[in-house]
Amino acid sequence: MRIVDIIEKKRDGGELTTEEIRFFVEGYTNGSIPDYQASSLLMAIYFKDMNDRERADLTMAMVESGDQIDLSKIEGIKVDKHSTGGVGDTTTLVLGPLVAAVGVPVAKMSGRGLGHTGGTIDKLEAIEGFHVELTTEQFIEQVNDIKLAVIGQTGNLTPADKKLYALRDVTATVSSIPLIASSIMSKKIAAGADAIVLDVKTGEGAFMKTVEDAKNLAHAMVQIGNNVGRNTMAIISDMSQPLGFAIGNALEVKEAIDTLRGEGPEDLTELCLTLGSQMVVLGGHAKTIEEAREQLLEVIKNGSALEIFKQFIEGQGGNPAVVDDTSLLPQAQYTFEVPAKEDGFVSFIEADEVGTAAMILGAGRATKESTIDLAVGLMLRKKVGDKVTKGESLVTIYANQEDVSSVIDKIYSHIKISKEAPQAPKLIEAIIT
Ligand code: URA
Ligand code: CA
Repeated sequence: MRIVDIIEKKRDGGELTTEEIRFFVEGYTNGSIPDYQASSLLMAIYFKDMNDRERADLTMAMVESGDQIDLSKIEGIKVDKHSTGGVGDTTTLVLGPLVAAVGVPVAKMSGRGLGHTGGTIDKLEAIEGFHVELTTEQFIEQVNDIKLAVIGQTGNLTPADKKLYALRDVTATVSSIPLIASSIMSKKIAAGADAIVLDVKTGEGAFMKTVEDAKNLAHAMVQIGNNVGRNTMAIISDMSQPLGFAIGNALEVKEAIDTLRGEGPEDLTELCLTLGSQMVVLGGHAKTIEEAREQLLEVIKNGSALEIFKQFIEGQGGNPAVVDDTSLLPQAQYTFEVPAKEDGFVSFIEADEVGTAAMILGAGRATKESTIDLAVGLMLRKKVGDKVTKGESLVTIYANQEDVSSVIDKIYSHIKISKEAPQAPKLIEAIIT
């Protein structure tokens, strides 16, 4: 087999065989196929697309390029959730205990990563003593015991995706549906998921700016999952404004606790119930989405979701008392209000830019070397559609610095107030099964 023939075939719109796709992925990962030929094939895929079978083959070839996590010692169907990323997305912290309380095992491998706030692990480390350095045995035992555990990234997962993603980044081939879909799905499958729920974000703060693009990506991923034996569902959700009120690590932990108590922001709660219902159905604990939703509402109401969160914190070395006393979380030294300059309605909160304001305070990493200040961040006091009077606070800033003028400027430039009541954005745009 020669890579040049494979490039030529795809260039002319042909269908690659399973063997050809595997030859390419293996050859590129081990270095026998050079960057220039891989780039050329990626560009051909960008223009000529791949059919469902080719997409499934590409995904599995990337899965098989590295280690795969074996979760077979965990009882039950392991359902993983993936979000395509957003601002102040606290859903993982809520969903874990929520679906675990219904009996769905959550064996989560999580990361730190760059962004407006830290990743799930950074957020959890706002809880004194909490750590993710579990052995595989401890990890499995805890999931069997209380249905929920989180560990840091281990093993050499999907090296083919790492290498291809880096190449796509510099060859203008990132924004290709078959390439994005196989990249995301390969990582979930290698991490041991039996079933997958996807939250594809759309809007200003998202990777997919339009609902149309988000739907195409979601359909592609659901198709791949189902074709490789992993039941998959997706939703399209709004990320034109940040989710919930909190953007910051300790602030989001508090918001998650409020939500598990049934006192969280309306949008975050609704998103968690929607995604959670799909997880419960795929996990085999309910027949219908409606039945699953009832179960989730019940574990919020009877306190068992919050109880699981306490046991989970304790199991990983943290102080569970934070759940009943959130003042034990890291506290910022200063708070500042950002008052509205006029009467009207909040018409726009640009998710990306407001997230960057939180990052300037130190809530997220700009580079891998940056350190995070877990206490700082923003609390939105208004969401899109809310009425506001002059002088009322739009945002509370939690800071460990006295000068926050650049953060205030950024907030004023990216929160718009209009005279007319705007259409509030729809939180769940579509459900794809
Ligand atoms: N996120 C991924 O993991 N892969 C892509 O290709 C794009 C976004
Ligand atoms: Ca939030």
